[in-house]
Amino acid sequence: MDEKVRKTEGDTSWFAKSRFGLFIHWGLYALGARHEWLMHHEEIPVGEYERRYFKHFDPDLYDPALWARTARNAGMKYFAITTKHHEGFCLWDSKLTDYKAPNTPAKRDLLRPMVEAFRKEGLHVGLYHSLIDWHHPQYVIDPYVGPYRNNPDKDTLNMKRNQSKYAQYLRGQITELLTEFGKIDLMFLDFSYIKPDGTGKGRKDWESEKLYETIRKLMPKIVLNDRLDLDEGWDIKTPEQFQPREWVKVNGQPVVWEACQTFSGSWGYHRDEMTWRSVDELVRTLIDCVSKGGNLLLNVGPTGRGEFDARAVERLNGMGEWMKRHDRSIYGCTQAPAGFTAPENCKLTYNPETNRLYVHVLAWPYRHLYLDGKAYKDRVEYAQLLNDASEVKMMMEEWYQEQQKRTGTDREGLALTLPMVKPDVTVPVIELFLKP
Ligand code: GLC
Repeated sequence: MDEKVRKTEGDTSWFAKSRFGLFIHWGLYALGARHEWLMHHEEIPVGEYERRYFKHFDPDLYDPALWARTARNAGMKYFAITTKHHEGFCLWDSKLTDYKAPNTPAKRDLLRPMVEAFRKEGLHVGLYHSLIDWHHPQYVIDPYVGPYRNNPDKDTLNMKRNQSKYAQYLRGQITELLTEFGKIDLMFLDFSYIKPDGTGKGRKDWESEKLYETIRKLMPKIVLNDRLDLDEGWDIKTPEQFQPREWVKVNGQPVVWEACQTFSGSWGYHRDEMTWRSVDELVRTLIDCVSKGGNLLLNVGPTGRGEFDARAVERLNGMGEWMKRHDRSIYGCTQAPAGFTAPENCKLTYNPETNRLYVHVLAWPYRHLYLDGKAYKDRVEYAQLLNDASEVKMMMEEWYQEQQKRTGTDREGLALTLPMVKPDVTVPVIELFLKP
């Protein structure tokens, strides 16, 4: 990317090199096992929700070291855990509420051992925290989200609610998280929903300026996402559940970005959801993110017993199998320099430090791959398959010209001779060594 990427307050250097992270959505909704918004979807009152799920939350198979190893083996370099989601339940031993894991049959802080286990595996630590809180008694009910949004008495209920007291609680809990768990590298706050008519919730409801100051004071270099409804102060853009068509820009300027996505739709554990993505598509999506200068944050919703869904483990292991031989076409890589156009059915990633270009071949062609463009002809000095470092022969210039004449085109470029059989990897990659 020749245009300058927008500068950030937080230290995004590790983030932009990491490219691949794990999102974990875990809370009482794992027991409902039918989407993390079930309290909203089914308009379940607080008392009923507590009776059903808070009273029965007992993740006896919880093994954070295994979670961390699974993530590292998949090739992930950081993670982000839901310390509190919209339901308001907290995984750690917050002094500001009783609605927390230590007060459930789990009887312990579930966040601390997780942060320690992931840090021990060498992953960067990220904390997701919901701005929305459907449990807190001071959180003002609005007609858009939450179990009481259609409640005819919400105006009466709101008489006893003071949103500013909730905002104070929010700052208090963020202060706990940023002072009691060591260095936190990433904070993912979620989410503001201001409507065109100004209703909904945003900066004034979260007292975002104060919250932002609190965060920067406690963790100056933390990487902060873009959902506080503030024009400045955010470090990363976070497109969700879709794939950007190009490098994400704000006011025409490329920014640091991260696509956050699920395996199947729901963020929380969803027992009966059958729309699970394939390893092949997931690997191609990771490549696509990096080819556009971005990261992929892939989500797992652990079960109420405290295990990763077996369908997720299978896919993480599959991605890990590919990353084992291809991770240098991802880590530290970004969009290819101008002049290098991706061949048909291919994506490009580029490592500016090693000056190597990676051609990810999404559909294996018959015998030859044409790298059209003067940049290829002038700058490629050697080519090999990344999975086994076997040489990929570069056809002589004359041969390429001969082909052009035969097809009546006058392009410049380079042709590679490929093995007849596609290498037995999810996505084969050709590593091109460029001249300085
Ligand atoms: C959306 C979902 C929320 C999820 C978040 C992750 O806001 O509603 O449940 O936590 O995305 O980015």
